[in-house]
Amino acid sequence: MYKKRKIRKQAKRNFILLTLIIFISVVGIKLVDDYLYQQTYEYKLLQINYSLDEIKIIEKELEDKQIDSLLTKDYNPNLTKIIINKYFIYNNLDRYSNYANENKDIDLNKIISLVNVNRDRDFYKEPIKNNYKDEKLMLVNKYYYLDKDYEPENIITTTGTYSYANNSLNEETYNAYQELYDAAKSDGYTILIVSSYRNYEYQEELWNERKALYGTRKADEYAARAGHSEHQTGYALDVADFYDTNDKFGDTKSYLWMKDNAHKYGFILRYPKDKEDITGYSYEPWHYRYVGKETANKIFKENITFDEYYAYYLNKEVN
Ligand code: DAL
Ligand code: ZN
Repeated sequence: MYKKRKIRKQAKRNFILLTLIIFISVVGIKLVDDYLYQQTYEYKLLQINYSLDEIKIIEKELEDKQIDSLLTKDYNPNLTKIIINKYFIYNNLDRYSNYANENKDIDLNKIISLVNVNRDRDFYKEPIKNNYKDEKLMLVNKYYYLDKDYEPENIITTTGTYSYANNSLNEETYNAYQELYDAAKSDGYTILIVSSYRNYEYQEELWNERKALYGTRKADEYAARAGHSEHQTGYALDVADFYDTNDKFGDTKSYLWMKDNAHKYGFILRYPKDKEDITGYSYEPWHYRYVGKETANKIFKENITFDEYYAYYLNKEVN
């Protein structure tokens, strides 16, 4: 009798103990679970008002260190639209947002292209010295400049077959041009070099002439200021159809040939139509830049300018 009571008492105690253990475990597991969840990006991003759909995109598109830095900023309603753009550069994020706020009529994808090529900054104001290691891929534009005494290596003089008189340019570029010329010739087109390597002083003369004729604003549309011309790299050239003049080149069949074929020989149309806002120059159907076949093919295929290519493919880490 006594023994039975003792067993019952023991069972009761065990039951209470077990219940307590289960209770503590459940609460404990829940606390640990909560704690672990609070360490996730999902929880942290929810706290700054990103939706679950947005968070899915953020976690897919951004690296951890980028999400960490995102957590220090306020909610950005444009964020997911920005980060799904192929050419999005994380370090430019704040600049995209600021520029988008200042230009509400411009599409966000365009904002990304413009900011990547520095169009949220004034031309010539804080020039960046270009000392990119590969001369062939050096960007020279209204932001990037070359020193006054910068002279490229391997500059050679062209012959009358391929160019008008007094032209010189980088040797690799000239070799590639000869290939291009021969291919065009066998298709029935004669495309000659009109102007190629120009040193700082010569470019200065050209720009000053234009300024005297048309004023600064007009001069800047077609001519680069000294130090800012890619003709100074030795890798750029202007061409003309055999029968035609330089600035009418865009109306010729030779131009159509160049449009379809120049990239196969490593050349790109440097200032295309409808990209004026990106390049900062009016359309120049006659101006080509040698960048090598691989880069030229990529630029052609992606339909981007060299400015955009440089920002996204060559300068992203430095940016
Ligand atoms: N025409 C081009 C922009 C130059 O002057 O370099
Ligand atoms: Zn040119």
